Amino acid sequence: MHIVAIDGPAGSGKSSVSRAVAKQLRFGYLDTGAAYRALTWAVLAGELEVSTQSSEEIAENFAYSISLDPEDYWVRVGNSDLTYEIRLASVGQAVSEFASLPQVRQYMHWLTHNLISTSSLPGIVVEGRDITTVVFPEAKTRILLTASEEVRLERRSAELPEGTSIADQVTKRDQIDSRVVDFRVPAPGVHLVDSTELDFDSTVEAIIALVAKD
Ligand code: DC
Repeated sequence: MHIVAIDGPAGSGKSSVSRAVAKQLRFGYLDTGAAYRALTWAVLAGELEVSTQSSEEIAENFAYSISLDPEDYWVRVGNSDLTYEIRLASVGQAVSEFASLPQVRQYMHWLTHNLISTSSLPGIVVEGRDITTVVFPEAKTRILLTASEEVRLERRSAELPEGTSIADQVTKRDQIDSRVVDFRVPAPGVHLVDSTELDFDSTVEAIIALVAKD
């Protein structure tokens, strides 16, 4: 299976670009941030406890599922569809706290490998903060997608509900997250794609060109 691993900060266009790349290549698409968000939602709803549990206990108690189809995106915990709920500001504000717990990261590492190894796809685009360095250092294609902070704030403000503080959602969260994983500098062997001056389609094309070469 051709694994295309894409890292990058909030607002870099990581999710929408990854999904478009997957569609064009007829690969699967895995948004790893969705699992951190769904876990946070479950903790806030009182349905899951993570601070005192091991990664194995989290795996037993958290019935997470996600679509790998880039044309049909959904996220579920048990029978509840959380596709919309995981994007709420309350989840976005709390997610970094749980994402910094070692047992949660260990569980996510296992979950990501498990979701991919049990699928029968020709390839998959998998995106998230530590994907090129920690979760899939062996991926055939590894990309760090960046953009200037100014452009990232602009792109995020177009996506967020009115009244949400952009600086809170993007800059602060990146600062907290980067204490856990440094997703701003490409590790050796990771291609850097800077989308500051590129429009959406050109960014997708640049990534597809790298995948074709690897
Ligand atoms: O990409 P996102 O905004 O949906 O990610 C939500 C949070 O999960 C973000 O604060 C960082 C964390 N995360 C992570 O630490 N590692 C990943 N592979 C994906 C997300």
